[in-house]
Amino acid sequence: MIIAVDGPTASGKGTIAKALAAHFGLPCLDTGLLYRAVGYQVEQAGGDADNAADALAGCDFPDSLLANPDLRSEATGGLASRVSVHPEVRAALLERQRAFAEQEGGAVLDGRDIGTVIAPDADVKLFITASVQARAKRRWLEMQGREMEITLDEIEHDIAMRDARDTGRKDAPLRIAPDARVIDTTALGKEEAIAAAIAAVELARD
Ligand code: DC
Repeated sequence: MIIAVDGPTASGKGTIAKALAAHFGLPCLDTGLLYRAVGYQVEQAGGDADNAADALAGCDFPDSLLANPDLRSEATGGLASRVSVHPEVRAALLERQRAFAEQEGGAVLDGRDIGTVIAPDADVKLFITASVQARAKRRWLEMQGREMEITLDEIEHDIAMRDARDTGRKDAPLRIAPDARVIDTTALGKEEAIAAAIAAVELARD
């Protein structure tokens, strides 16, 4: 069974994808991490994330980079969103994601274009969303204790910018696949959101 979990930044899709993978005994790929690795690599090399050639060069990153905690930062998320606009970058990362999706026994993948481009024939497609305010608040709470000097307003602004870039790009924009089930987590706690996703998968695969 292939489960596609798409949605905007900080919607809870990563948490939901991991929980679904554990519940259904499937391997899980956070595809955003691949774009984050590219953005990080470009920055480290002194390149420009908005330049297609620099961004493509960043696709040649070592697998060990995927374990680097710096990939999880807001700054790297912004770089990832910028490199992900280039069709060359999307093409370079496509096969790796598709092979993961099509492995024997199935898989869970979370991202922006899983149900629309990477695995259009996925058995189950979920689209996880939440209001910008709810997502900003979650991100802000997550950051507390990590000594990061960023205000709730700044996070809200960053999230709105990333939404605009991810939905507005020409190649594989963030879209709700016509056959996806939408789960709005604005008013849901973590466990409620996970339960709703498990129920949606069970309903969709029957
Ligand atoms: O899910 P995330 O916040 O880690 O993703 C970071 C950026 O990567 C996101 O803003 C857009 C890009 N991305 C993408 O274009 N396609 C995907 N399948 C996953 C992420």
